[in-house]
Amino acid sequence: MKLQLGQTDIFFPVPAALIVGSFENKVDVATIAWVGMVSSTPPTIGISFDKSRYSLSLIRQSGYFTVNIPSADYYKETDYCGIVSGRNTDKASVAGFSYYHGTRTKTPIIKECPFNLECKVTKEIELGSYIMLLGEIVETYIDEDKTIVQNGRAKIDIEKVNPLVYCATVREYWKLDKKVGTAFNAGKDIVQNELGERNGQ
Ligand SMILES: Cc1cc2nc3c(=O)[nH]c(=O)nc-3n(C[C@H](O)[C@H](O)[C@H](O)COP(=O)(O)O)c2cc1C
Repeated sequence: MKLQLGQTDIFFPVPAALIVGSFENKVDVATIAWVGMVSSTPPTIGISFDKSRYSLSLIRQSGYFTVNIPSADYYKETDYCGIVSGRNTDKASVAGFSYYHGTRTKTPIIKECPFNLECKVTKEIELGSYIMLLGEIVETYIDEDKTIVQNGRAKIDIEKVNPLVYCATVREYWKLDKKVGTAFNAGKDIVQNELGERNGQ
């Protein structure tokens, strides 16, 4: 039995990303859940802001933003950045976040967030009361201590990153539990079974 909930914006899981925008000497951070990767070549991320957001106004002036993924330990600070506007408050300093300059843009990343992206706005799309920005990812950062070396290469250790997970409109923060499988591989068992059945085995 399925319950119909009507036209909603309930969606999960999504990130509770901290988006930083800056212009001249002004800098702001806002919590944004409407974030998603929309292309791999070129790597492009889409983020949607209500038109009233102060962070959006800074991003539109500079043409750059950074995406910062907090660990689940920072759910209170992340929530704070989503319930207060930065128009008259330095949210990062109140929340205990420090800014760190990346190499590709003038917009800072957040040091306390283990994973960060520097992005250049490539397109803006108006969607009712929202503005969706598409940003090409120009650099990616991961805290070194959140990686493990595998076959001589640094691999991101998701358990150490412990990313904060948000369930939108249900309004709950969660954390990840355990790895259950390897992508582009786990489905191969089903492919093999299906091939076997087709061949009458
Ligand atoms: C978990 C969470 C997710 C949010 N997601 C969005 C979002 O996707 N888009 C948006 O415009 N506002 C979103 N908000 C609200 C903004 O973060 C909030 O209005 C913030 O105060 C804006 O700050 P600013 O005016 O400094 O930009 C979210 C808030 C929370 C707590």
